[in-house]
Amino acid sequence: MVTKSHPVGTLISFEGSEGSGKSTQIARLAGHLQRIHREVVATREPGGTEIGEQIRNIIVHNSKGDEMCPETELLLFTAARAQVVREVIAPALQRGAVVLSDRYLDSSTVYQGIARNLAPGPVSAINRFAVGDVMPNLTIVIDVPTEVSLERIRQRASDLPDRMERENISFYTKVREGYLLLAKEWPDRVIVLDGTQTPEAIEKKIWAEVQKRLG
Ligand code: TYD
Repeated sequence: MVTKSHPVGTLISFEGSEGSGKSTQIARLAGHLQRIHREVVATREPGGTEIGEQIRNIIVHNSKGDEMCPETELLLFTAARAQVVREVIAPALQRGAVVLSDRYLDSSTVYQGIARNLAPGPVSAINRFAVGDVMPNLTIVIDVPTEVSLERIRQRASDLPDRMERENISFYTKVREGYLLLAKEWPDRVIVLDGTQTPEAIEKKIWAEVQKRLG
């Protein structure tokens, strides 16, 4: 359960549009952390728990998905988040682990708030309600041009693209711009890395940044 005591671990969230290379970087950072004997817990949104995986299926694969209104989408994503925070993230932080989250509350701010145009006040309040006091210590946005991200989605789609992946270029442009805006708003928490560099170069920058934060 989320408690009021300050967690001793570190929460690092990874953000960016589809195909930005988040999962590769999470795996590499986990490797670095394990080499220095830190407990690492990797979790992904909107899954990460059994309840969360079921919610994820409703959001991305439901046959009625195209009729889903943005408000429902926001509440489902944040419902999955509320679960993973209490079931996985908060307990891990209390043990002192480093938690690597593939997406976190900024995804809702950007996808539902900015790209789907929901009012920022309610989005922020609902997001905060879902996470309680479990805010990321560091958020890494891997930024790639919209065309690159769309091309990577096309290449990796083994079958039909899911509901979110069917969105058009203007949606993904808003997503990209939304993340850049967040980084300006929260400069101490959110850093942006150029996702067109080699995976090795990005990995090095992330590790340097994380080492700084871990002290
Ligand atoms: P997923 O297949 O996990 O994508 P990715 O590997 O790109 O992270 O699906 C997540 C999709 O859901 C992705 O399109 C982003 C979107 N999303 C939101 O719109 N809001 C949210 O709060 C979250 C967590 C994800």
